[in-house]
Amino acid sequence: MQRMNVMVVGSGAREHALCFRIAESPRAARVYCAPGNAGTSLHATNLKVDVNDAAAIVALAKEHAIDFVVVGPEAPLVAGVVDRLRDANILAFGPSEAAAELEGSKVASKEFMARHGVPTAGFAVFADADKACAYIKSAGRPLVVKADGLAAGKGVVVAKDAAEALDAVDSMMRMRAFGDAALRIVIEETLRGEEVSYHVVSDGERFVALAAAQDHKRLRDGDQGPNTGGMGAYSPPPVFTPEVEAKVIARVIEPTLRGMREEGRPFRGALFCGLMIENGEPTVLEYNVRFGDPECEVLMARFDGDVMPLLEGSARGDLSNVSIAWRSGAAMCVVLAAGGYPSSVEKDVPIHGLADVASTPDVRVFHAGTRVQRDDVVTAGGRVLGVCASGATLDAAAKAVYGAVARISFAGMQYRRDIGWRARKS
Ligand code: AMP
Ligand code: GLY
Repeated sequence: MQRMNVMVVGSGAREHALCFRIAESPRAARVYCAPGNAGTSLHATNLKVDVNDAAAIVALAKEHAIDFVVVGPEAPLVAGVVDRLRDANILAFGPSEAAAELEGSKVASKEFMARHGVPTAGFAVFADADKACAYIKSAGRPLVVKADGLAAGKGVVVAKDAAEALDAVDSMMRMRAFGDAALRIVIEETLRGEEVSYHVVSDGERFVALAAAQDHKRLRDGDQGPNTGGMGAYSPPPVFTPEVEAKVIARVIEPTLRGMREEGRPFRGALFCGLMIENGEPTVLEYNVRFGDPECEVLMARFDGDVMPLLEGSARGDLSNVSIAWRSGAAMCVVLAAGGYPSSVEKDVPIHGLADVASTPDVRVFHAGTRVQRDDVVTAGGRVLGVCASGATLDAAAKAVYGAVARISFAGMQYRRDIGWRARKS
């Protein structure tokens, strides 16, 4: 077997989880993470880089004789890093710039769904704030306002009334809170139901479906407080029955992948569909063109076997011989966030208890915003750690995960105590 030097691009708990699984693979020779964090340095060699600098990523890959690059976050994908790597004959996991538009532009992704009959909330597109406001005033029902471009997860306002929707238009289009990302906006119907994160890995033609997961976007227990990048996740969510999955594959996954092929931009990489499920009927909230975070952490916790054939098969354009398996039972991830998150956060706060939980069976701590300062691990970002556990049942996983969380501490630490509440029995 030809072993490969692998580089994971990114610095979150998603990338730590990927490094952890890739480092286990017999197909991996050296593993690098760029730029990584204190956790990735346990499984990989960290390399300094700006993830949005495609030329620097290509140069780093050449310098370290990297055979395979796995791109974690959306911004470099939308900026075309996979195309630049392919131009340099370096194998890369993730979609091309043209395919990454499914996440990079909400206008483009809604129009794509409309063209290909993929079920999504009814919508209208505006480039003019006055027209958007007139539309909101005449609608007479609650609406969702979305910035077109990438806005670090903050570009969506689910307005409870017209005043909130008008405020959102004002801040996005007149105050330019997201700069050029809101030159255009999408205004859409509010959907009701339960959200599910569903990922498939595609090689452009075929796909391998991953286990479903559920994220918790609000900061506080009971789904209260501001939206965040995700405060915790679990898998599998009971609402995602085999019947619902069959509908999602037939109505969403197959038409999406076919549509991308027909448009000459076959989708390779991880396609993450944010779905709303109401009475067993799925509707697409959004596409993402990469693994979810913290969804990836629970998926890697449940993954059974070698993850490399899946990633490599997608990148090479041939998943025909790849099948995957999941550990039975469930997995849960609880995010420990810094004080102040999701607004400005305090950094360089020492983290206690990591060594204590390191050897706990079934528990794995994936690092996000952490770095090593002298011999200590300190905070370096908003989401600091993703504490994961697997178990025979979701309740067992929850017990293990919260047992570990209780042994970790840092000043200002905040986390949700109710991850998995929709599915937990205890
Ligand atoms: P998005 O980035 O489009 O997934 O939006 C972020 C979050 O806003 C989603 O995870 C949902 O919680 C919420 N959201 C987005 N669109 C809608 C919608 N049409 N109806 C209700 N909630 C929505
Ligand atoms: N957890 C949601 C996301 O990664 O977009």
